[in-house]
Order: sequence, then structure tokens, then C-alpha cells
Amino acid sequence: MATFLRPLSYRYQWLFDGIARTAALTVGGEQPFRTLALQGLTLSQDMALLDLCCGSGQTTRFLTAYSPNVIGLDASPLSLQRAERNVPQAQFVQGWAEAMPLEDSRFDVVHCSAAIHEMTDDQRAAIFKEVLRVLKPGGIFTLIDFHRPQNPGFWPGLALFLWLFETQTAWQMLRANMPQELSQLGFAGVAQRLYAGGSLQVIQAQKPPLTTV
Ligand SMILES: C[S@@+](CC[C@H](N)C(=O)[O-])C[C@H]1O[C@@H](n2cnc3c(N)ncnc32)[C@H](O)[C@@H]1O
Repeated sequence: MATFLRPLSYRYQWLFDGIARTAALTVGGEQPFRTLALQGLTLSQDMALLDLCCGSGQTTRFLTAYSPNVIGLDASPLSLQRAERNVPQAQFVQGWAEAMPLEDSRFDVVHCSAAIHEMTDDQRAAIFKEVLRVLKPGGIFTLIDFHRPQNPGFWPGLALFLWLFETQTAWQMLRANMPQELSQLGFAGVAQRLYAGGSLQVIQAQKPPLTTV
């Protein structure tokens, strides 16, 4: 489902950004929200970072603080036009996350912020496979997205948000066990952290490093 507010939020970036900033208050504001999934990683200036489903560059901007080598990928030409304006220091590529026009083993980190909930279960499986393909051995996949709240007090706010702005795929994702899906695909060291009463999840997962014999 979703209401008329969903297309409006995609048409007007100020509305999308205002909603995202308000939601980010549950974890202390936009800066913590945009960098939460990267916590604990050692990032350096020579690393190649991919902002998967980058939208208008809302998170891409924060990634460029870690490395000058940042690419944002999104399917929407309008979002990419805005991203190029908002984050001129990054590069942008148009494409589907489930069939990325990017070569194998290219990135040290692939980050996906608040986008996996827009995918069907099949799309999500295809995207996770693609992430594994474009990561370097030893590279890290990070994501931040909704989660079923553990604290019942967070259910009304999340349910209202999903009803106003999201579609059925967001509800489907709440039923998914993404750490298990990633482990089954071959990711190693999959770790999940929950925030905001459990209504937000951060996942970090590693593409297994090459082993030498
Ligand atoms: C909710 S926005 C998130 C934007 C940004 N990452 C953020 O954190 O605010 C989801 C983005 O995913 C993009 N998207 C949805 N499905 C996609 C797909 N299959 N492949 C690539 N991009 C997709 C949309 O165009 C949109 O820009």
C-alpha cells in the first residue's frame, strides 16, 4: 500500500529529506544515521566505496568523507541528476542493483542505506548475489534498514510510517531474516545490530578473503 505522500516524497527532494531527517532522530540525527552501518570498520582514503541505491546522494555525501573514490548507483535518472548536483565529488552510475553495470571485485565496501525495503524477496536475493560479485575478496557489505521492533512502543510509529510512505515490500522485508540470507549466500562474519527499539537494523557482512595454500 502507501498513500499519495509516497510519490510526492520522491518528486520533492526537500520532502524526502525532511522525512528522513525526522526518522533519523530515533538514532540521534542524520549524521549518526548515515554513518551507523560503518561503525567499527577501518576505512582508508584509497578504498573504493559503492553507495548502492544512492537516491539523491543523501548518504553518498557522508561516504566521501572517508574516501575520494565513491560511486553511487541508482535506477532513477531523476535521483541521479540530483545526486550529481548534491555530491559533485562522487561519480554516479545508472543501473539496477540486481544487475549492476560494474565489474567483479571492484569495491572494498558496498553500502546500502534505506533501500532494501523497496525490493521483493526475489530482487533482494539477486541484489545480495550482485553485492558479493562486485566486492573485492575481504570486502564488506553494510546495510541499514527497517526491522521488526522489539520494543512494542516503536510499532505504532513504524506502522504509520510504512503505511504513509512504503509499499508491501517493506512489510515483507520485516518478515525476512537477512543475516541468515547473507550467510547462506556465502558472506562471512555476518553481524546484525538493532537500534531505535529494534525498529532499525544495521548489518555488516564480509565477502570471504582469498585463502592461500
Ligand atoms: C528510499 S530511497 C533511499 C535513498 C538513499 N540511499 C537514502 O539513504 O536516503 C531508495 C532508492 O532506491 C532506488 N531503487 C529502488 N529499486 C532499485 C533497484 N532495483 N535498483 C537500483 N536502485 C533502486 C530508488 O530509485 C531510490 O532512489
